[in-house]
Amino acid sequence: MDLQRLYSANMKNMKRSAIRELLKLANKPGLISFAGGLPDPGVFPLEAISQITAEVLAQEGDTALQYGLTAGEPRLRRALAKWGAAQGLNLTEENVIVTTASQQGLELISKMFLDPGDIVIVELPSYLGGLNAFTSYRANLVSIPLDDEGMKVDLLSDKLKELQGQGKMPKFIYVVPDFQNPAGVTMSTERRRQLLDLCYQYDLPLVEDTPYRELRFEGQAPPDLLKMDDKGHVISLHTFSKILFPGMRLGWTIAPREIIDKLELAKQSMDLCTPSFTQALVRRYMERGLLEPQIERIIGVYRKKRDAMLGSLDAYMPKVPGIHWTRPKGGLFLWVTLPKGIDTQKMFAQAVDRDVAYVIGSAFCADGSGENSMRLNFSFPTEEEITEGIRRLAETVKENLA
Ligand SMILES: Cc1ncc(COP(=O)(O)O)c(C=O)c1O
Repeated sequence: MDLQRLYSANMKNMKRSAIRELLKLANKPGLISFAGGLPDPGVFPLEAISQITAEVLAQEGDTALQYGLTAGEPRLRRALAKWGAAQGLNLTEENVIVTTASQQGLELISKMFLDPGDIVIVELPSYLGGLNAFTSYRANLVSIPLDDEGMKVDLLSDKLKELQGQGKMPKFIYVVPDFQNPAGVTMSTERRRQLLDLCYQYDLPLVEDTPYRELRFEGQAPPDLLKMDDKGHVISLHTFSKILFPGMRLGWTIAPREIIDKLELAKQSMDLCTPSFTQALVRRYMERGLLEPQIERIIGVYRKKRDAMLGSLDAYMPKVPGIHWTRPKGGLFLWVTLPKGIDTQKMFAQAVDRDVAYVIGSAFCADGSGENSMRLNFSFPTEEEITEGIRRLAETVKENLA
């Protein structure tokens, strides 16, 4: 069969990611990988989940194993609204839709807003899964660089003015404001304010994707964009993937009611409903007050791993101009920049020869830049692996400097 003739324009536009091919190389015994974005399975609360699973089956098996409502199980929506309200958000369950993790939220938002050729403003670098969701609807991505305080809103302001002049206004702005994937940086309060003001000025939705917000190791959190927004521009994506575990595929989106209604419509043809069973498990887990201590436990483990990675980078990386890395106060990742001229894609095979892997920076840069950078994950490897892996990585960098 000539399948090429049959594929949709959207399908033809989807590209197999270069990093997938690279990471196949990294699939060898003894290799220490900083490439994934996986939580540490050692923190999964197996005992509590096993007990709650038995209870759900015994006490509410008839509904937990049944189809559910597209917008989510009503008691879980209520629990999520309560959780948001406890953090100062002004919301009810009508502002919440349960999704099959936050990746589905990104897909639903794309489905709701994007026609081929539409513009989406993204950070440089940005979350690859977000970029892929938008481009699968054939959006054009316009990247705005970030620094240690998040997206550079002065550049955003210039870009919006330029796009307006060309009659090409974007459909929305997408940011990961807390412990960003991939850069590890957090947007400052002042930048958040300026970003929102620009969204008001140009009448644009702001998509806040914040899976790592709760995983803060130190310092005071700036307010959520959702909390700062009093005009209904923010759509806020959340997930249990990093604060509990990702295997349940459970997340939620908070937005004005009109948007929630459209997301629900878009979701109906996608999966009818998010699994009722996992929703029942998490609702009980939350109602029992187990989520807060679980988050504290995760923070304790990841803080130590972050410290191990920063300590090893300080100890082993060559001290030459042009080498620097972010110092995240939470989350799962940090971002290393090497001197111009070192191409982390070319360096990858040498790193794998030394049994260490990372993700090349250009994978996260919608404009193809970032060739001298890389993302390192510290949540999955053990502290010992982090120390040894960074030592190997530093040797690889030294070889390239020479
Ligand atoms: C910024 C960001 N958004 C969304 C996701 C998707 O997570 P999930 O679909 O597991 O909720 C991730 C996963 O790493 C992420 O880093």
